Amino acid sequence: MRKAHIFASALLTLMVVNINAQDAVPLEERIDNTLARMTTHEKIAVLHAQSKFTSSGVPRLGIRQLNMDDGPHGVREELEWNSWSPARWTNDSAVAFPSLTCLAATWNRQLARTYGNAISEEFAYRGKDLLLGPGANLARTPLNGRAFEYMGEDPLLAGEMAVNYIEAAQRNGVGCCMKHFVLNDQETDRFSVNVNVSERAMRELYLRPFEMAVKRAHVWSLMGSYNLWHNIHCCHNQELLCDILKDEWQWDGALVSDWGGTTDTWQAVMGGLDIEMGTYTDGKLRESEFGYNNYYLADPFEQLINEGKVPMEVLDEKVRRVLRLIYRTSMNPQKVIGSLCSEAHYQACREIAEEGITLLRNSGLLPLEPSTLAGKRVLVVGENATRSLTQGGGSSELKTLRDISPLEALLGVFGGTATVTYAQGYASGRAIYDRVDNVDAALQQRLHDEAIAAARDADLIIYVGGMNKNHRQDCENGDRENYNLSFGQDRLIMELADIQPHIIVCNFGGNAYATPWLDKVAALVHCWYLGSEAGTALVNILTGKTNPSGKLPMTFAHCLADYPSMMYGAEGYPGVDKQVYYKEGIFMGYRWFDLSSKDKKAQLKRNGSTASFCAAHTVFPFGYGLSYTSFSYGTPILTSTADGWDITVPVTNTGEREGKETVQLYVGRKGKSAVERPVKELKDFAKVNLKAGETKNVSLHLTNADLCYWNETTHAWDIETGTYVAYVCASSTDVRGQVQLTLR
Ligand code: BGC
Repeated sequence: MRKAHIFASALLTLMVVNINAQDAVPLEERIDNTLARMTTHEKIAVLHAQSKFTSSGVPRLGIRQLNMDDGPHGVREELEWNSWSPARWTNDSAVAFPSLTCLAATWNRQLARTYGNAISEEFAYRGKDLLLGPGANLARTPLNGRAFEYMGEDPLLAGEMAVNYIEAAQRNGVGCCMKHFVLNDQETDRFSVNVNVSERAMRELYLRPFEMAVKRAHVWSLMGSYNLWHNIHCCHNQELLCDILKDEWQWDGALVSDWGGTTDTWQAVMGGLDIEMGTYTDGKLRESEFGYNNYYLADPFEQLINEGKVPMEVLDEKVRRVLRLIYRTSMNPQKVIGSLCSEAHYQACREIAEEGITLLRNSGLLPLEPSTLAGKRVLVVGENATRSLTQGGGSSELKTLRDISPLEALLGVFGGTATVTYAQGYASGRAIYDRVDNVDAALQQRLHDEAIAAARDADLIIYVGGMNKNHRQDCENGDRENYNLSFGQDRLIMELADIQPHIIVCNFGGNAYATPWLDKVAALVHCWYLGSEAGTALVNILTGKTNPSGKLPMTFAHCLADYPSMMYGAEGYPGVDKQVYYKEGIFMGYRWFDLSSKDKKAQLKRNGSTASFCAAHTVFPFGYGLSYTSFSYGTPILTSTADGWDITVPVTNTGEREGKETVQLYVGRKGKSAVERPVKELKDFAKVNLKAGETKNVSLHLTNADLCYWNETTHAWDIETGTYVAYVCASSTDVRGQVQLTLR
């Protein structure tokens, strides 16, 4: 008995030593060992899909396949192995996390980590190795149908959130596939549009979040975009993927194509693509015409190798990257088991939602204390009060167990004391993806009239509308039709406000939109998309249980024509003959709105535009958001550090409630520069929680690299000596203090 015990424990020790010894073999050695044992055919097999969302491993050698899934707001429902139809599993419901625009609006790096940790636990539990996200294309136009999946108009904000999300997810052994690399900033003609952009804007803006994720978070994979750059598809664009990403940035990850983004074998082989997914989903071919062996990186590539037309090193280089990804994820002994739909995940969802909700106007009606509504008649109007916004939108659609609607949550909190009634007000149809429903005009009128009639009896109106996930709203494969809210909502809000000025407008949506009724309403609360806990989060903000602290990750202009991308006719957006020109260059988003009228006019003239713009800059600037308390900023102090400067500013909560404030640090060049410079650019930010009356010192940091610009003559980052101004701001137009620094 005792002997047996000793033997068993010795065996156990041996096994542990063995496992550890295996673990201790350095990654690159394991890759080399495996590669040496693979046949050419096995090498080819790991480079392309074997089902809708998996790519092969090497079964003979015990090398696991890669299980991928959308992303980026939760684990997508299981689809059939070989088709886009739902697999109809009953155990694949997941938490819908808030959209990434909502995460960006929190300006909270810690919440980006909370997000990355929680979502990757759900992916792990569902047996997934690669999360298709986060998305970091920039909000160049407010019409972009997928802006809700991304993180706004500023590369630093998007990059910081991405870095933190990715680090937390990958720590759990779940890889991120950051997308869409790069310039996928519109959905119109997404498969075929070639983006013409200056080298400087490319480097300073569009590549920047990806560069940050590559260099700081060491993201394990990236997804190439459908669109073209220099007239070559980004999924196999040598200059982009081999020269910049792999050589210059020294990236060791695997480049995954977007689904159907591969169009040519030779380019795929030589242009930096490592894993080809979803071919024949590009609308050009039927599935029956194309099997997995017909993929561009399958039989056609194998033939090139066998005929000696492509050297084995080219194949091996790709296989190494794929094996590296497999060892980091599906064969990572540290990969977590994860969990699905846990209370901790719902709580993460709620926290992110509450911190992302952005209060844009408040004449004093908010917060609503439930007791003050006792005996009052509260009318809730709007389709989004009851509609699930986790459905639709394209690949980010989610199947949920919990999806708390605003109406449900409003009834829960006010229903006991006030009389709460509901009128839909408008209908949008249920159009999902690639289709727009025509809503019956008679129905629309009836819903409108019912809401107006109900408004006459109401003491308070809570309007819950905005955009939804229908095609040509916030949805993949189509941009929005216009800048105004659809389905007659502008007229409806206007008429409701005429009857009852006590109206709180709560809008969902991933983009900026026109607000012609703004002056007539008592409050405007912007909700992005909030996921499973939408209703609870919204109600917690409306009642003041949580103090709002979201700030806009993109500019809200008066009208579409005010956006710089719209000032160059169709060439500027959405393109002519499949060519789009980013003529505004680096003056995108607040970098444009910050310019004086004189400088704007000079810019337009230089670029050959005769467009005009509203004199009054924006409705809500980038970085803007209100609170139920107020903050005052003291004098910022500059100190030198080993690698740059610290700027420290005391911030005081001067109101009566606890709340959070995001302090934003922008930098601008003072005096002459060799190149055109924005007035200022975001370089750091910090979010701080303050009790009523409390003061804290907030520290922000700058390095030399933050003062650089991309030099188009030397094709490198460059820095000018001289004076710079660091602006401490509450939004991009609300400068609370400034310090100068001199670089000698
Ligand atoms: C989208 C990707 C998505 C993929 C797989 C594509 O159409 O552009 O973002 O990850 O489909 O669903």
